[in-house]
Amino acid sequence: MIVQAAITGWGKCLPPGVLNNHDLSTLVDTSDEWIVSRTGMKERRISHVDVSDLAYVACARALACAGKGADQVDMIIFGGCSNDTQVPNSSSRVQQLLGANNAACMDLNTACTSGMYAMSVANAMIQAGTIRSALIIGAEVISPFMDWTDRNVAILFGDGAAAFYLEADDSGEEIGLQAEALGCYGDSRDILAVEGVGLKYANLGWPLGSTHWNFEGQNIFKQAIKGMYTGCQQAIEKQGIAKSDINVVVPHQANLRIIELLANRLELPEAKLFVNVHRYGNMSAATAPVALVEAVEEGVVESGSLILVPAFGAGLTWSAQLIRWGKRCTPINDCDIDLPPTSMSGLELVKQCLKAHGQYKAPVK
Ligand code: ACO
Repeated sequence: MIVQAAITGWGKCLPPGVLNNHDLSTLVDTSDEWIVSRTGMKERRISHVDVSDLAYVACARALACAGKGADQVDMIIFGGCSNDTQVPNSSSRVQQLLGANNAACMDLNTACTSGMYAMSVANAMIQAGTIRSALIIGAEVISPFMDWTDRNVAILFGDGAAAFYLEADDSGEEIGLQAEALGCYGDSRDILAVEGVGLKYANLGWPLGSTHWNFEGQNIFKQAIKGMYTGCQQAIEKQGIAKSDINVVVPHQANLRIIELLANRLELPEAKLFVNVHRYGNMSAATAPVALVEAVEEGVVESGSLILVPAFGAGLTWSAQLIRWGKRCTPINDCDIDLPPTSMSGLELVKQCLKAHGQYKAPVK
């Protein structure tokens, strides 16, 4: 009998600072109408704390949801491409904040797909018997290294985190991750690249904190659909199911048009799609995990639902997971852990980033 990795805890953490389309139109030449019609996005969140703080709160909520203590975590996998510090890693900071002293800690960076790749790695390690439980995280604080002067990218991204608690299940039931497909179009890695982040740029004398995004939107758009479509087809084939067996599709939320075109190509009805891109934009590694948590919280995912989660990110990495949800869709315990409060709005936080990069220009009255 194969041990399954049941998902028994889930939690999210969205920072309170909201940045809406109107706010963005005061920073770059854009409009609410353009952003909504091209992306489906209305607002996104900007963090006033570090990425490991968001991850910690999401993990605390996932543990309470599972009814587990921090000492019942064998492994923490932090999925994301934004880190407070490169050395030491972010997962060790989450361990420290949780007091999860029995946990091994690893960071995993496949950009936007990191949270879902983390689920695949933890699932495999539980099935192999290496560990019995794991906290997997998808978390990003992108706002400090966003180029807020570039309208092509500044409108697309936000900050956030989500986490899941996975535990070994010997009941023989088929629950948790049932099949996946993972891949990468490395030849296209330069079409989505953040120049200025990484040691290569420090060696080139690049000014600290300043970035330039290589972002070929239309090319990424096409490759995203190709990668997610390929992943979905492979995962469905591996599992030997019909598309009609899928109850809910929770895709990476990079653009509403990408989501709708993918569903169309897969011949999956739009009614099965879970969409929250209007609320948060693209939170990179946190996107699909936050969407999955909200699909459960909103009752879209039900007891025993079969869920398809396609995602893609810089690299260009892609993934598709088929997840069988367990019986329980409500948390065992509530969690009173929260972020420290802030009086700053999303726009004020962005202006703080611009000032830090020496880019903020007060509007001429
Ligand atoms: N506001 C107003 N106008 C804009 C903006 C803006 N924010 N951005 C671009 N424009 C203009 C362009 O300059 C262009 O004007 P022109 O015709 O005079 O040259 C026009 O609008 C059309 O621009 P396009 O780039 O053709 O717009 P498109 O319809 O392709 O939408 C978008 C752009 C939203 C970026 C789209 O290509 C997209 O979603 N691509 C994929 C993005 C993506 O997947 N991101 C996630 C990356 S992976 C990850 O998750 C990390």
